[in-house]
Amino acid sequence: MRFDILTIFPEAFGEVLGCGILRIAQEKGAVEICVHDIRDYADDKHRSVDDRPYGGGPGMVMMCGPMFRAVESVDAAAEPSARRILLTPQGERFDQEMARELATQSRLLLICGRYEGFDERIRVGIGATEVSIGDYVLSGGELPAMVMVDAVTRLLPEVLGHPESAAQDSFGQEGGLDCPQYTRPPEFRGMSVPEVLLSGNHGKIAEWRAEQAKCRTLSRRSDLLNKS
Ligand code: 6GU
Repeated sequence: MRFDILTIFPEAFGEVLGCGILRIAQEKGAVEICVHDIRDYADDKHRSVDDRPYGGGPGMVMMCGPMFRAVESVDAAAEPSARRILLTPQGERFDQEMARELATQSRLLLICGRYEGFDERIRVGIGATEVSIGDYVLSGGELPAMVMVDAVTRLLPEVLGHPESAAQDSFGQEGGLDCPQYTRPPEFRGMSVPEVLLSGNHGKIAEWRAEQAKCRTLSRRSDLLNKS
Protein backbone atom coordinates (compact mmCIF):
# COMPACT_ATOMS: atom_id res chain seq x y z
CA MET A 1 0.00 0.00 0.00
CA ARG A 2 1.21 3.51 -0.76
CA PHE A 3 0.42 6.63 1.29
CA ASP A 4 1.09 10.14 -0.01
CA ILE A 5 0.81 12.93 2.54
CA LEU A 6 0.51 16.58 1.49
CA THR A 7 1.47 19.04 4.23
CA ILE A 8 3.19 22.35 4.89
CA PHE A 9 5.09 20.65 7.76
CA PRO A 10 6.78 17.62 6.15
CA GLU A 11 9.41 17.63 8.90
CA ALA A 12 6.72 16.78 11.48
CA PHE A 13 6.43 13.20 10.15
CA GLY A 14 10.01 11.94 10.45
CA GLU A 15 10.07 10.68 14.03
CA VAL A 16 6.62 9.10 13.91
CA LEU A 17 7.21 7.25 10.64
CA GLY A 18 10.69 6.21 11.81
CA CYS A 19 9.70 4.10 14.85
CA GLY A 20 7.90 0.94 15.82
CA ILE A 21 5.38 -0.75 13.59
CA LEU A 22 5.44 2.04 11.02
CA ARG A 23 9.19 1.69 10.54
CA ILE A 24 9.02 -2.09 10.35
CA ALA A 25 6.09 -2.02 7.92
CA GLN A 26 8.11 0.22 5.59
CA GLU A 27 11.23 -1.95 5.91
CA LYS A 28 9.18 -5.03 5.04
CA GLY A 29 7.84 -3.21 1.98
CA ALA A 30 4.22 -3.54 3.18
CA VAL A 31 3.79 0.25 2.94
CA GLU A 32 5.49 3.11 1.21
CA ILE A 33 4.88 6.51 2.86
CA CYS A 34 5.78 9.59 0.81
CA VAL A 35 5.54 13.03 2.43
CA HIS A 36 5.28 16.08 0.15
CA ASP A 37 5.61 19.80 0.91
CA ILE A 38 2.65 21.74 -0.51
CA ARG A 39 4.94 24.80 -0.71
CA ASP A 40 6.87 23.06 -3.50
CA TYR A 41 3.77 23.68 -5.62
CA ALA A 42 3.47 27.42 -4.89
CA ASP A 43 4.00 29.81 -7.77
CA ASP A 44 5.53 32.86 -6.11
CA LYS A 45 8.90 33.53 -4.57
CA HIS A 46 7.47 33.49 -1.02
CA ARG A 47 6.13 29.96 -1.67
CA SER A 48 2.67 31.11 -0.50
CA VAL A 49 0.00 28.47 0.10
CA ASP A 50 -2.55 30.62 1.98
CA ASP A 51 -4.21 34.01 1.62
CA ARG A 52 -6.71 36.27 3.39
CA PRO A 53 -10.39 35.30 3.19
CA TYR A 54 -12.67 37.13 0.76
CA GLY A 55 -15.25 39.08 2.75
CA GLY A 56 -12.76 39.72 5.55
CA GLY A 57 -12.34 38.07 8.91
CA PRO A 58 -9.49 36.64 10.92
CA GLY A 59 -7.00 34.01 9.81
CA MET A 60 -5.85 32.68 6.50
CA VAL A 61 -7.33 30.23 4.01
CA MET A 62 -5.44 27.60 2.01
CA MET A 63 -5.36 28.57 -1.68
CA CYS A 64 -6.57 26.49 -4.63
CA GLY A 65 -3.56 26.73 -6.95
CA PRO A 66 -0.81 25.07 -4.90
CA MET A 67 -3.22 22.44 -3.52
CA PHE A 68 -4.65 21.37 -6.90
CA ARG A 69 -1.15 21.24 -8.45
CA ALA A 70 0.18 19.21 -5.51
CA VAL A 71 -2.70 16.71 -5.54
CA GLU A 72 -2.63 16.23 -9.33
CA SER A 73 1.13 15.91 -9.56
CA VAL A 74 1.49 13.50 -6.62
CA ASP A 75 -1.46 11.40 -7.76
CA ALA A 76 0.00 11.09 -11.27
CA ALA A 77 3.38 9.95 -9.89
CA ALA A 78 2.18 6.36 -9.40
CA GLU A 79 -0.50 3.88 -10.45
CA PRO A 80 -3.36 3.40 -9.76
CA SER A 81 -4.95 6.76 -8.93
CA ALA A 82 -5.18 7.39 -5.17
CA ARG A 83 -8.25 7.56 -2.94
CA ARG A 84 -8.17 11.21 -1.78
CA ILE A 85 -8.77 12.18 1.85
CA LEU A 86 -9.06 15.72 3.15
CA LEU A 87 -8.39 16.04 6.87
CA THR A 88 -10.79 18.49 8.45
CA PRO A 89 -12.78 18.69 11.71
CA GLN A 90 -15.88 18.90 9.48
CA GLY A 91 -15.38 15.45 8.01
CA GLU A 92 -16.86 12.02 8.70
CA ARG A 93 -15.56 10.58 11.98
CA PHE A 94 -12.64 8.16 11.60
CA ASP A 95 -13.10 4.84 13.42
CA GLN A 96 -11.90 1.23 13.28
CA GLU A 97 -14.47 0.37 10.62
CA MET A 98 -13.21 3.16 8.35
CA ALA A 99 -9.62 2.04 9.05
CA ARG A 100 -10.52 -1.51 7.91
CA GLU A 101 -12.13 -0.19 4.75
CA LEU A 102 -9.15 2.06 3.93
CA ALA A 103 -6.75 -0.85 4.52
CA THR A 104 -8.24 -2.54 1.42
CA GLN A 105 -7.12 0.34 -0.85
CA SER A 106 -3.85 0.27 -2.74
CA ARG A 107 -3.20 4.04 -2.48
CA LEU A 108 -4.30 6.80 -0.10
CA LEU A 109 -3.54 10.49 -0.55
CA LEU A 110 -3.94 12.40 2.72
CA ILE A 111 -4.25 16.18 2.51
CA CYS A 112 -3.46 18.11 5.70
CA GLY A 113 -5.11 21.49 6.16
CA ARG A 114 -3.85 24.36 8.28
CA TYR A 115 -5.00 27.86 9.12
CA GLU A 116 -8.72 28.63 9.21
CA GLY A 117 -9.55 26.10 6.52
CA PHE A 118 -9.50 25.37 2.81
CA ASP A 119 -10.87 27.41 -0.05
CA GLU A 120 -14.27 25.76 -0.62
CA ARG A 121 -13.28 25.02 -4.24
CA ILE A 122 -10.64 22.60 -2.97
CA ARG A 123 -13.33 20.64 -1.15
CA VAL A 124 -15.60 20.73 -4.17
CA GLY A 125 -13.03 20.11 -6.92
CA ILE A 126 -10.56 17.59 -5.58
CA GLY A 127 -12.92 14.65 -5.18
CA ALA A 128 -11.86 13.85 -1.63
CA THR A 129 -13.58 12.16 1.28
CA GLU A 130 -13.48 14.55 4.24
CA VAL A 131 -12.36 12.88 7.45
CA SER A 132 -12.11 14.05 11.09
CA ILE A 133 -10.52 12.07 13.93
CA GLY A 134 -12.89 13.32 16.64
CA ASP A 135 -14.89 16.17 18.06
CA TYR A 136 -12.15 18.60 19.06
CA VAL A 137 -10.17 21.15 17.10
CA LEU A 138 -6.51 20.60 16.22
CA SER A 139 -4.26 23.20 14.63
CA GLY A 140 -3.87 21.14 11.49
CA GLY A 141 -4.31 17.82 9.75
CA GLU A 142 -0.79 16.51 10.46
CA LEU A 143 -1.59 14.65 13.70
CA PRO A 144 -4.81 13.23 12.21
CA ALA A 145 -2.83 12.01 9.15
CA MET A 146 -0.36 10.22 11.45
CA VAL A 147 -3.25 8.66 13.37
CA MET A 148 -4.80 7.35 10.16
CA VAL A 149 -1.52 6.03 8.73
CA ASP A 150 -0.84 4.14 11.97
CA ALA A 151 -4.36 2.73 12.35
CA VAL A 152 -4.51 1.57 8.72
CA THR A 153 -0.95 0.23 8.43
CA ARG A 154 -1.28 -2.10 11.43
CA LEU A 155 -4.27 -3.75 9.73
CA LEU A 156 -2.30 -4.76 6.62
CA PRO A 157 -1.94 -8.55 6.57
CA GLU A 158 1.87 -8.55 6.35
CA VAL A 159 2.41 -6.07 9.20
CA LEU A 160 1.54 -7.48 12.64
CA GLY A 161 3.54 -10.46 13.90
CA HIS A 162 0.42 -12.45 14.81
CA PRO A 163 -2.40 -12.04 12.28
CA GLU A 164 -4.93 -12.50 15.09
CA SER A 165 -3.47 -9.59 17.14
CA ALA A 166 -5.40 -6.93 15.23
CA ALA A 167 -8.66 -8.84 15.55
CA GLN A 168 -8.15 -9.25 19.31
CA ASP A 169 -7.39 -5.58 20.05
CA SER A 170 -10.04 -3.26 21.39
CA PHE A 171 -12.32 -2.37 18.44
CA GLY A 172 -11.08 -5.43 16.55
CA GLN A 173 -13.57 -7.64 14.72
CA GLU A 174 -15.49 -8.08 17.99
CA GLY A 175 -16.13 -4.32 18.17
CA GLY A 176 -15.69 -4.03 21.95
CA LEU A 177 -12.84 -3.32 24.37
CA ASP A 178 -10.01 -5.76 25.05
CA CYS A 179 -9.63 -7.85 28.25
CA PRO A 180 -6.99 -6.99 30.92
CA GLN A 181 -3.51 -8.43 30.33
CA TYR A 182 -0.81 -9.44 32.82
CA THR A 183 2.84 -10.46 32.67
CA ARG A 184 5.45 -11.50 35.27
CA PRO A 185 5.72 -11.27 38.26
CA PRO A 186 2.63 -13.14 39.57
CA GLU A 187 2.39 -10.69 42.49
CA PHE A 188 3.38 -7.01 42.50
CA ARG A 189 2.87 -4.63 45.45
CA GLY A 190 0.10 -6.82 46.82
CA MET A 191 -1.73 -7.10 43.48
CA SER A 192 -1.95 -10.63 42.07
CA VAL A 193 -2.51 -11.99 38.62
CA PRO A 194 -5.93 -13.72 38.39
CA GLU A 195 -5.49 -17.41 39.21
CA VAL A 196 -7.14 -18.62 36.01
CA LEU A 197 -4.38 -17.09 33.86
CA LEU A 198 -1.79 -19.20 35.70
CA SER A 199 -3.89 -22.37 35.45
CA GLY A 200 -2.78 -23.49 31.99
CA ASN A 201 -6.45 -24.34 31.19
CA HIS A 202 -6.86 -22.66 27.81
CA GLY A 203 -10.60 -23.18 27.60
CA LYS A 204 -11.13 -21.52 30.99
CA ILE A 205 -8.70 -18.72 30.08
CA ALA A 206 -10.56 -17.94 26.83
CA GLU A 207 -13.86 -17.93 28.73
CA TRP A 208 -12.48 -15.58 31.42
CA ARG A 209 -11.06 -13.21 28.80
CA ALA A 210 -14.32 -13.04 26.84
CA GLU A 211 -16.24 -12.34 30.05
CA GLN A 212 -13.80 -9.61 31.14
CA ALA A 213 -13.89 -7.96 27.72
CA LYS A 214 -17.70 -7.95 27.81
CA CYS A 215 -17.87 -6.47 31.35
CA ARG A 216 -15.32 -3.83 30.50
CA THR A 217 -17.14 -2.82 27.34
CA LEU A 218 -20.47 -2.72 29.17
CA SER A 219 -19.18 -0.57 32.04
CA ARG A 220 -16.99 1.81 30.04
CA ARG A 221 -18.38 1.94 26.52
CA SER A 222 -21.87 0.46 26.37
CA ASP A 223 -22.39 2.52 23.19
CA LEU A 224 -20.11 0.02 21.40
CA LEU A 225 -22.36 -2.94 22.23
CA ASN A 226 -25.34 -1.43 20.47
CA LYS A 227 -23.28 -0.58 17.41
CA SER A 228 -22.82 -3.95 15.71
CL1 6GU B 1 -8.79 16.00 10.56
N1 6GU B 1 -8.24 18.40 11.50
C1 6GU B 1 -8.25 19.34 12.44
N2 6GU B 1 -7.67 20.53 12.20
N3 6GU B 1 -8.82 19.18 13.64
C2 6GU B 1 -9.36 18.00 13.87
C3 6GU B 1 -9.39 16.96 12.92
C4 6GU B 1 -8.81 17.20 11.72
N4 6GU B 1 -10.03 15.92 13.44
C5 6GU B 1 -10.38 16.29 14.68
N5 6GU B 1 -9.99 17.55 14.94
